[in-house]
Amino acid sequence: MKEEWLKNGYVTEPVDKSLDLKAEIDKLRKEKNAVILGHFYQSDEIQEIADFVGDSLALAQWAAKTDAKIIVMCGVHFMGETAKILCPDKKVLIPDLNAGCSLADSCPADRFAAFVAEHPDHQVISYVNTSAAVKAVTDVVVTSTNARQIVESFPEDAKLIFGPDRNLGNYINSITGRNMLLWDGACHVHEKFSVEKIVALKQQYPDAAILVHPECKGAVAKLADKVASTAGLLKYAMASEKKDFIVATESGILYEMRKNCPDKNFIPAPPEDSTCACNECNFMRLNTLEKLYNALKYEWPEVQVDPAVAAKAIRPIQRMLEISAQLGL
Ligand code: 13P
Ligand code: SF4
Repeated sequence: MKEEWLKNGYVTEPVDKSLDLKAEIDKLRKEKNAVILGHFYQSDEIQEIADFVGDSLALAQWAAKTDAKIIVMCGVHFMGETAKILCPDKKVLIPDLNAGCSLADSCPADRFAAFVAEHPDHQVISYVNTSAAVKAVTDVVVTSTNARQIVESFPEDAKLIFGPDRNLGNYINSITGRNMLLWDGACHVHEKFSVEKIVALKQQYPDAAILVHPECKGAVAKLADKVASTAGLLKYAMASEKKDFIVATESGILYEMRKNCPDKNFIPAPPEDSTCACNECNFMRLNTLEKLYNALKYEWPEVQVDPAVAAKAIRPIQRMLEISAQLGL
């Protein structure tokens, strides 16, 4: 391994500008029996080339069932870890190892384990946006697609810890009437949506439906016509009679929304502290077509999970997949 690659966390070999990258990626994935999984927050060009594009639950489900020898996870690190835990014998690549997640980082495993230990009578529900070490002290993992149903699968009087997203936790508490103990974490992208700017957009587009991801603050969720995961918001937009949609989540989802609904108008909700019209996750956007090509070519960087941690983390992930399958999710 080259010193420079290790230092940077991705293959730094320059890519020949004359190459048709999409054709080359296609050739490599066939030669190497690789599958490219992409999250909705990836750039348009990565979503175009990926074999499957979906939300965090779909990415885990596809990883669990693929026959491919190599999984290239075009998403962030916890998504690669989840794939690796489910498929320990496969090579799991990520175009850039620096693609982390501020929400996962807001929950250091040692502090979370101490919090769990302080509440021995509680069961632990963790959002998938967590490190493998956090999942290792978790009873069941959830995503925003299945969080409500999985929380409701516990008896009403069950004592529950929910981590790490306080906004998602508060939202699930509010719709289920539960009183889960919440970890105080958040995503830097979703926390930034501004109520004032969304209200101003609504005045401009009075008939628009407001679509909100549950990682947004409660005050933003209160404005919503629909609060759901990325896949849930896409489904809602596709089924809706409305023509205009104000979308409060990472703006990568607009690619799939526009592709599926070419006659509808999708307006990204802007963040509060900038003049940018849309809100991007700087971690998700570290993955580029060039890095994806190099990752496939050199089969590096690989996502690794300590086998002892993976042996504990797999149980709550599998429990999530089993409950989701029972629910038809
Ligand atoms: P989804 O599971 O809704 O795709 O969310 C993933 C994520 O990282 C949201 O910020
Ligand atoms: Fe993490 Fe937020 Fe980026 Fe999603 S949008 S990957 S929660 S930092």
